[in-house]
Amino acid sequence: MSFSIIGTGSACPDTIKTNKDLSEIIDTSDEWIKTRTGIARRHLLTDETITDLAALSAERALKDAGTTAQELDLIICSTIRGDYMTPSMACMLQARLGAACPAFDINAACSGFVYALDNALGYFERRKVKKVLIVSAEAMSKMVDWTDRATCVLFGDGAGAVVLSEGNDYLSGKLTAVGSDLLSIPGTEGCCPYSNAEIRPSYLSMQGQEVFKFAVNAIMKDIRDVLNEAELTEDDVDHVLLHQANTRIIETAKSKLNISKEKYLTNIEEYGNTSSASIPILLDEYARKGMFKKGDILAMSAFGGGLTTGACLVRWCK
Ligand code: ACO
Repeated sequence: MSFSIIGTGSACPDTIKTNKDLSEIIDTSDEWIKTRTGIARRHLLTDETITDLAALSAERALKDAGTTAQELDLIICSTIRGDYMTPSMACMLQARLGAACPAFDINAACSGFVYALDNALGYFERRKVKKVLIVSAEAMSKMVDWTDRATCVLFGDGAGAVVLSEGNDYLSGKLTAVGSDLLSIPGTEGCCPYSNAEIRPSYLSMQGQEVFKFAVNAIMKDIRDVLNEAELTEDDVDHVLLHQANTRIIETAKSKLNISKEKYLTNIEEYGNTSSASIPILLDEYARKGMFKKGDILAMSAFGGGLTTGACLVRWCK
């Protein structure tokens, strides 16, 4: 017993900022951003909260699944930070949706959605749940330094959700972690008068080229490992959904794996890097376009802060 994905949903802020818009507030250009990353636009939170987006994506996924919040047995959110440190985003969402099930967050940075899927597997295997909601929602615009052109141009805000039910369509999965601060966001230190901790701004910093190399190697290894575990080959994959961090990472992966190039789905041009929300937003967008057929094999692979990575193979069941 594993699970099947029976519904998807996503939600992104209405406010869209193009590369040209950003070039009016920092020293950058459309040409630099497009060539180095593939990003043209990103959606940014203005009046809405990240919990609002999480709730909207969840409602859309529940509707798509033909079920209700009251039928959920578990809610898992992946997020680097919700609107509160506590309550968790999952608890805030549970209240918004009117669900009555346990709810908790996972923070595995950009790998969070794949981490959440693999965590959900344990509950299905122990037969503790029949329906699970996973929501990945990220407010990246609140974590970057908007004076640092090397990072602020890369990210966007958004939420993606899936509803899982009992089934046999999670074919294999793999999670890894290598503790490192190559990509980090320091926590706040509070105001204890006895603390000697250095007060650091709570902004994202990243050694981009090191993360780039790590990402490419992780995608290769993780996809091959999940294929081996499921006793499938690269030929068997119908669609590849990689974490949308940088088009050049995706292009490098394409050139190294033996999977036809047209099978790689992308939407980074429109959203930038939405961290753990990127794969479920991509999944929802292509599901709604009718891109997937029943029985298609989807390979997902993500990497991010931690450093974490995660990959899995899912058979499309709708
Ligand atoms: N506009 C114009 N110039 C810029 C900008 C900008 N926005 N940002 C940096 N530059 C300049 C730099 O100052 C530097 O100038 P210099 O040569 O005069 O010193 C030059 O461009 C090159 O900078 P690099 O940082 O070396 O650029 P690089 O080619 O490595 O690209 C990038 C940077 C896009 C970040 C790339 O390294 C990358 O994508 N890395 C992977 C990031 C990633 O995948 N992260 C995923 C995890 S995210 C998560 O987990 C939350």
